[in-house]
Amino acid sequence: MAKLIIEGGRPLKGQITVHGAKNAALPILAAAMLIPEPVRITNCPRLTDVENMAGILQALGCRVDWVEDGLLIDAGSARTAELPEVLAGSIRSSVFLLGPLLGRFGAAEAPFPGGCDIGNRPVDLHLKGFRAMGVKVDEASGRIRCLGRPRGGTEIALEYPSVGATENLLMAACGAEEDTVLVNPAREPEIDDLMAFLNGAGFDLKREGSSRIRVRGGRRGHSTSHVILPDRIETGTYLVAAAITGGHVLIRGGRKEHLSALLMTLREAGCRIRIEGTDLDVEGPERPRELRRLVTLPYPGFPTDMQSQVFALCTVAKGTSVLEENVFENRFCHGAELKRMGADCYVRGRTAVIRGVKGLRGAQVTAHDLRGGAALALAGLRAEGITVVNRAERIDRGYAKFAATLRDVGAAIRREDD
Ligand code: UD1
Repeated sequence: MAKLIIEGGRPLKGQITVHGAKNAALPILAAAMLIPEPVRITNCPRLTDVENMAGILQALGCRVDWVEDGLLIDAGSARTAELPEVLAGSIRSSVFLLGPLLGRFGAAEAPFPGGCDIGNRPVDLHLKGFRAMGVKVDEASGRIRCLGRPRGGTEIALEYPSVGATENLLMAACGAEEDTVLVNPAREPEIDDLMAFLNGAGFDLKREGSSRIRVRGGRRGHSTSHVILPDRIETGTYLVAAAITGGHVLIRGGRKEHLSALLMTLREAGCRIRIEGTDLDVEGPERPRELRRLVTLPYPGFPTDMQSQVFALCTVAKGTSVLEENVFENRFCHGAELKRMGADCYVRGRTAVIRGVKGLRGAQVTAHDLRGGAALALAGLRAEGITVVNRAERIDRGYAKFAATLRDVGAAIRREDD
């Protein structure tokens, strides 16, 4: 277990360079299983979730080597389609391996991913899609057992544009002999990065307008190399860190086209943001303006993964903000923790009402989930006195060198590991 100890009240100043995206790296690592030759994945962030996924690939018989700028994976030697219980239980994204294992071996077995701190997180859409591809799926005794090579020639409509289901079904479809069309797929940029990786490896996936993706059947994967796209949530988190401290930070390597909803929101809150190529220069206001109504939605809507950080920003706004969480049903745990720091907020179901206060004060708080944990650290940067964020290892799941990065731009933050 780890904690972050933060002495707040210092405006951040300096430069931060963004890493590769966790949410692209995880499905891309899983997709390597489809390819029986070595692949090179660069700009891959070395995070606990990514390390765990690499560990699962090894347990399945793949060769995985970390190199300076990323990973080399050779799934040629993979010999089992059964995910190990302990490792697979440690990250929810292990469920992503079902699709590629089915595509490669026509069989896959994994423990049920179960719930997590931000909600119930079912996988019914993934399994419904596999069944529509002719795969036999058995969900008895806490395990998911899938049998049968995905059959092409199908059109699968997702009731909801789930990111994970879209990725899983695309990967399974790569193993089919006929074309598969996915209707109402998610539109997150990480899906396009996965598609770019698979296309580079010889598969053929194409968006047809914004509501369909066609996967051509009968292709085989071959050796390739791929550079992971920059992490829009990491970028966004550091934008909010600058904003909440009234600081001035240059964030390098971001992609403005993936950040539209967040950039609009931060400008509404009073930030000055100048963009030149992949450089985002942000200046935070002394006190942010309130956000009248912010609603999280699937991409290109405002990302649920930025809701908690913006929640923290709203706690010190000049007026009352209303946030509505539409993607996960239980993603406001940080609200109760922020109250310990003097925030004035309440949560009813999927809505949070936050009355901005002049200042926060340092307190002992607990990270219940990855993004909520990051939000508490950001609040700590603004608060007067010392904030201790307990269970900070949860933040490591999504941010490489979080404390060191913030320290480099002037934050008084240190980490203690038990
Ligand atoms: C991915 C991201 C996560 C992000 C989320 C939404 C990764 C590794 N994680 O998670 O950071 O917060 O997208 O942008 O990329 N649902 C179902 N049935 C299903 C699948 C999903 O009901 O079979 C529901 C979920 O409970 C949730 C909603 O759909 O309420 C969105 O989930 P989904 O888009 O699948 O998110 P993840 O892929 O889990």
